[in-house]
Amino acid sequence: MSDRILEVKNLKKYFPVKTNLFGKGTEFVRAVDGIDFHIDHGEILGLVGESGSGKSTTGRTVIRLLDPTKGEIIFEGRNITNLKKKELRKVYERMQLVFQDPFASLNPRKKVGSAIEEVLFIHGMKDRAQRRERVRELFDMVGLRGEEEKYPHEFSGGQRQRVVIARALAVDPRLIICDEPVSALDVSIQAQIINLLTSLKDRLGLSYLFISHDLRVVRYMSDRVAVMYLGKIVEIAPADEIFKNPAHPYSKALLSVASIKGSGKGRKKIILKGEVPSPVNPPSGCRFRTRCEYATVYCGEAEPQLKCIGTGHYVGCHLY
Ligand SMILES: Nc1ncnc2c1ncn2[C@@H]1O[C@H](COP(=O)(O)OP(=O)(O)OP(=O)(O)O)[C@@H](O)[C@H]1O
Ligand SMILES: [Mg+2]
Repeated sequence: MSDRILEVKNLKKYFPVKTNLFGKGTEFVRAVDGIDFHIDHGEILGLVGESGSGKSTTGRTVIRLLDPTKGEIIFEGRNITNLKKKELRKVYERMQLVFQDPFASLNPRKKVGSAIEEVLFIHGMKDRAQRRERVRELFDMVGLRGEEEKYPHEFSGGQRQRVVIARALAVDPRLIICDEPVSALDVSIQAQIINLLTSLKDRLGLSYLFISHDLRVVRYMSDRVAVMYLGKIVEIAPADEIFKNPAHPYSKALLSVASIKGSGKGRKKIILKGEVPSPVNPPSGCRFRTRCEYATVYCGEAEPQLKCIGTGHYVGCHLY
């Protein structure tokens, strides 16, 4: 068996923003514009970057809620890039998504236990007693023992996210895409959900794509971290390495403003100048060059490719 649970090759997702008379796109938001990464079995890959850099679009495209514009998604050795809706059901037994707003993802008129039973039914568990037993087990697992007869509004935000996690686990997935799973929660509750996700990962042998703009959480959770800027991965490395020795000028700036224990003590805060350029017309060559203090003429001419600069450490910058 390959070490990799997920492999993403040259993935692109463009959204049409202008169409011609015939409904064909003439201008596109290049939300994700040619990214490569993989996740090993049992690994947590953190995905960070400013708002609008394409993190959620990456997650949603990988799980095929969005159709990719280009590229390949290989999940558990199978190319799922072009699978039809019906064929995706089997994939969803192995890959699930947990996102930011637990209230929006639960049906307010359904008891949470029944909602999860429904998921189990759809995925082939026809025996009612078996479904009930599984729901009991799931609620136990996420620290909500005996709460399955309640409605979503009867829970606190943190508890609701536990319900969402239980629902994601119902079908026994191997990979979970977590898109800002704690951002909507009170800080005091965040740590509890993070600990739950970590212990479930160890107990069930899960892998996560962990999307977050909270670098402290990413540092705590991730084995490796990928940094995105304007639809591109600009750096990817083991978490310890990237937090101690970020190489890309963008990563340096991003990480310098988050005061994280053990990462480059006494490092100067780098405040980026200028706005993030539009993903409809990104700068030529290196996309970061318009905000980069090291940019040269060459940076506008050629697009940097990811280069290996250490064990598992890749950076896409002409300085290297
Ligand atoms: N359905 C859509 N149609 C058009 N543009 C979209 C769509 N979804 C996302 N975008 C654009 O794609 C780009 C990437 O958005 P995305 O939501 O992936 O960013 P993000 O990194 O998750 O940001 P955030 O940190 O705010 O969640 C943004 O410019 C966004 O406006
Ligand atoms: Mg997002």
